[in-house]
Amino acid sequence: MTESAPVIAIDGPSGSGKGTIARRVADALGWHLLDSGALYRLVALAAEKSGASLHDPEVLAQVARTLDVEFDSNEDGAERIRLSGKDVTLDVRTEETGARASAVAAIPAVRTALLERQRGFQQPPGLVADGRDMGTQVFPDARHKIFLTASAEERARRRHKQLKDKGLDVSLAALSRDIEDRDRRDSERSVAPLRPAEDARILDSSGRSIEAVTQTVLDWVAER
Ligand code: C5P
Repeated sequence: MTESAPVIAIDGPSGSGKGTIARRVADALGWHLLDSGALYRLVALAAEKSGASLHDPEVLAQVARTLDVEFDSNEDGAERIRLSGKDVTLDVRTEETGARASAVAAIPAVRTALLERQRGFQQPPGLVADGRDMGTQVFPDARHKIFLTASAEERARRRHKQLKDKGLDVSLAALSRDIEDRDRRDSERSVAPLRPAEDARILDSSGRSIEAVTQTVLDWVAER
């Protein structure tokens, strides 16, 4: 039954390693993956392409409701995202899109519009969901809730490397400022602010390898 498919909610600020860890955990368990940040980024991108104003909640909610997206992977397993049939894999990851996503994510009607779409990812054998409010709003009954953190400096360094590997060139200083701005906006917004669920376990990934953090999550999951 769909309702009973277990969920591992992994929340945290940008650059904490959520995306990478969520993917590794999903692969290790053979579970589905929900990258909820990509949905907010896609709303921002779709709004931009259609010329919709980032200040019109009703139009943005409509964009969110009618989002035509496909997530898949190419032959070597790399993620591929299509918006209305067009490959937007790179556009989705730019800092500019991230900043716009954070602005549209502060609009309650957009969050409501994406709620059911996100819940639809809860399918057997299980789901690893990565975002800001997976454990607090979208999957409050998740079997496992993890809040992944890392120091601001380390998060900026990681984002820098990630973008560089994708061929996108951004200065580290600009990235740090951008991350701090985004953290502030995500934590201070009135709707679904970034915060750990009361029953979440906090995991600090500073100075720890991807393998070590993934293993900690898998150990926690195996405990229950
Ligand atoms: O995780 P990612 O950097 O892709 O998310 C982009 C933006 O989308 C975040 O800064 C945040 O404002 C928003 N977001 C959100 N709730 C989620 C996931 C992302 O508000 N569950």
